[in-house]
Amino acid sequence: MPSFKIKDLKIAPQGALLFEWASKHMPVLNQIRHQFEKKKPLSNIVIGACLHVTKETAVLIDTLTAGGANVALCGSNPLSTQDEVAAFLAEKGINVYAWRNETTEEYYWCVNKVIDHAPSITLDDGADLVGTIHKRRRDALENVKGGTEETTTGVIRLRAMEKGGALKYPIIAVNDAYTKYLFDNRYGTGQSTIDGILRSTNLLLAGKNFVVCGYGWCGRGLSMRARGMGAQVIVTEVNPIRALEAIMDGFQVMPIDKASIIGDVFVTTTGDISVIRKEHILRMKDGAVIANSGHFNVEINIPDLESVSFSKRTLRPNLEEYNVRNEKKLYLLAQGRLVNLAAAEGHPSEVMDMSFSNQALCAEYLIEKNRMESKVYSVPKEIDELVARLKLKAINVEIDEFTEEQQRYMATWEAGTV
Ligand SMILES: NC(=O)c1ccc[n+]([C@@H]2O[C@H](COP(=O)([O-])OP(=O)(O)OC[C@H]3O[C@@H](n4cnc5c(N)ncnc54)[C@H](O)[C@@H]3O)[C@@H](O)[C@H]2O)c1
Repeated sequence: MPSFKIKDLKIAPQGALLFEWASKHMPVLNQIRHQFEKKKPLSNIVIGACLHVTKETAVLIDTLTAGGANVALCGSNPLSTQDEVAAFLAEKGINVYAWRNETTEEYYWCVNKVIDHAPSITLDDGADLVGTIHKRRRDALENVKGGTEETTTGVIRLRAMEKGGALKYPIIAVNDAYTKYLFDNRYGTGQSTIDGILRSTNLLLAGKNFVVCGYGWCGRGLSMRARGMGAQVIVTEVNPIRALEAIMDGFQVMPIDKASIIGDVFVTTTGDISVIRKEHILRMKDGAVIANSGHFNVEINIPDLESVSFSKRTLRPNLEEYNVRNEKKLYLLAQGRLVNLAAAEGHPSEVMDMSFSNQALCAEYLIEKNRMESKVYSVPKEIDELVARLKLKAINVEIDEFTEEQQRYMATWEAGTV
């Protein structure tokens, strides 16, 4: 019998419409679903998933169940669950434990409920599921054959586990597929972070000093899109190569110490901790807006913000005004959690089409391979390229192929200047 804990089953019909809309824009995953329906590669496999419960995730879950899997799902962030979607999934018979605005305690209760289903495959976004299994639910290790990881922060943690000899089952780093990070982290985060800022503030970005902390894949996408909105983009970095790249891409680069004096909007995309902290908060201008689009809510040091403020109030959904002691007001979006998921809807479906196609094909791969060592693996090149080819086909784009002469030429070392 499926079990669930969600906000309200009555809103399932709205979730069904969201699912339909997302599915229409996820042609690659739809093709995989048709294949899965015929082949049933996940027959009787229990999949435990800790992913943002969005309309796109519903399309992934539908694909996995079409392949024969029995799925248990919880959210991968206390603020990112779309309650309508959770209701839709519960009504479809999925074991789902997620609602928007969970406390930390409730969040881990949901993670543990997923583990109670004794998954043989785990799909994670941020490694909380894998971490909980390894730290507190080692009973579950017996059943797990392998897992996948969706995001940069999760992959960093899993590699640290592998290095420390703590990782007890194989994980495929879906984040590191080209068809994931080049599109999801860059264009997905770029667009949806702007979307989250606009939905919660409706401020004009043109002419603003827009500070992006971290020039990785997410930071590059966000800087590009903020410039497109007419903002003057300032990048902060710790990596000299990325800082140089940001300069050559036409952005200003400076330390956060300096940027904090002139910024109007700040967004962290580093995967790091306390990137914006007390000394920066105290320097900021009256009216500055602060948001985070990195995985965890530790990039902005919120206890520091609380400690220098004497009051706060909620002005609009996802917009909190802090009365800071040196006579200014600062505005924190979405409690410092992923602003694109908490204040908007996360990445567009077209982008998640590729990320989640990698997830579905990697789940199938883990079952096919059966016994892999307890390491962090890259997504197999065949899967990455297949996803790109299917996407190109879906958007009616043809590309060239090497001729035989070109193939020979590219494989030889003997040819040189002629
Ligand atoms: N919002 C989303 O939907 C979404 C999507 C994908 C990834 N993420 C998360 O976003 C974060 C970044 O992901 P990414 O793929 O861009 O990672 P990345 O590793 O490509 O980039 C991170 C960058 O931040 C820089 N950095 C680290 N500490 C810093 C500091 N103190 N100050 C300034 N720069 C610093 C690093 O040098 C690096 O260039 C991760 O937490 C990831 O999990 C979020």
